[in-house]
Amino acid sequence: QSIEKGNYRHFMLKEIYEQPVVVAQTLQSYVRPLEGKVALPDIEFDLSEIRRVTIVACGTSYYAGMVAKYWFEQFARVPVDLDVASEFRYRQPVMEEGGLALFISQSGETADTLAALRYAREAGQIIGAVVNVPTSSMAREADLLLPTHAGPEIGVASTKAFTCQLAVLAALATNLARAKGELTAEEEQEIVEHLTEAPAALNAALSFDGEIEKMAPLIAPARDVLYLGRGPDFPMALEGALKLKEISYIHAEGYAAGEMKHGPIALIDDLVPVIVLAPSGPLFEKTVSNMQEVQARGGKIVLISDRKGLDAASHGVMATIEVPAVHPLIAPMVYAVPVQLLAYHVAVTKGTDVDQPRNLAKSVTVE
Ligand code: G6P
Repeated sequence: QSIEKGNYRHFMLKEIYEQPVVVAQTLQSYVRPLEGKVALPDIEFDLSEIRRVTIVACGTSYYAGMVAKYWFEQFARVPVDLDVASEFRYRQPVMEEGGLALFISQSGETADTLAALRYAREAGQIIGAVVNVPTSSMAREADLLLPTHAGPEIGVASTKAFTCQLAVLAALATNLARAKGELTAEEEQEIVEHLTEAPAALNAALSFDGEIEKMAPLIAPARDVLYLGRGPDFPMALEGALKLKEISYIHAEGYAAGEMKHGPIALIDDLVPVIVLAPSGPLFEKTVSNMQEVQARGGKIVLISDRKGLDAASHGVMATIEVPAVHPLIAPMVYAVPVQLLAYHVAVTKGTDVDQPRNLAKSVTVE
């Protein structure tokens, strides 16, 4: 079947805009709104007996896994190991019995991730796979297949597959939390409501596209850009930086906001835009105080937050991007939208080949 760009200038933009629909499509196979439950496909083992989760992936899929680490630990109280596949497969990791090894991949064919999956199989782990291509090697080799329903992704830089991975991982986190006795029926009902609202929240985030387009010329001339976040927004900062470098060729780094003073603060001057992801909530004040350290050194801030956060902290910043206020299990999906759009518009401003950036491949099936 041939896939068209329709009215969009690039596949990447089309795929960013598809997110409300494909996330809804993905959630449909996991969320049962009438029962107030989040379900998984037939599982042939007892989730409550999982003692450790090991998450392995590459690229953007790895950052989805990093978000999941925060969720699995915080909501299900299960210890999580996390690694990029190219390191994991060669360092002979110790894997104890009773572990779930989870592999995340859009293509299901990334060579390093597939090799890591086979290593974990040999090491006696239960194999879970979050994949977008249901006929792929990883899908076929998994004990627990957790499909994303993003549809074919053409843009080399992953967007809609990533948010669908987050949706599936939120469903898995909820199931793990229930199995571990960390979730009441009322809490689960609440999560179901929030997940059901995710597509609308993604639409709301997309509605700020025009403003993001207007701020792209502020970022396009930069040589370096820094992204800061805490908690699950740390992997989102890493993902934001990855998107920007992949398609605009601007050097970008994501950093845990609290770690900035241990190095990257030395880079700050008025030529380095700093993108701060800071939803209002328990970590907000901490991130804002890191942001103020940047401001005090002349750094130009783009603050991404909800209305409440922007009202509290946008004094003196170069630009702001609003996102809707949502539950922590939805927030990374919603924050993905502005970082994708920002990277996209900066790349278009610079005139790079957005859908097929130089030196990159959609699927890396060789080592
Ligand atoms: C390549 C792509 C990335 C992707 C990564 C992992 O580097 O350019 O967009 O995130 O591979 O791919 P996978 O198919 O395993 O998710």
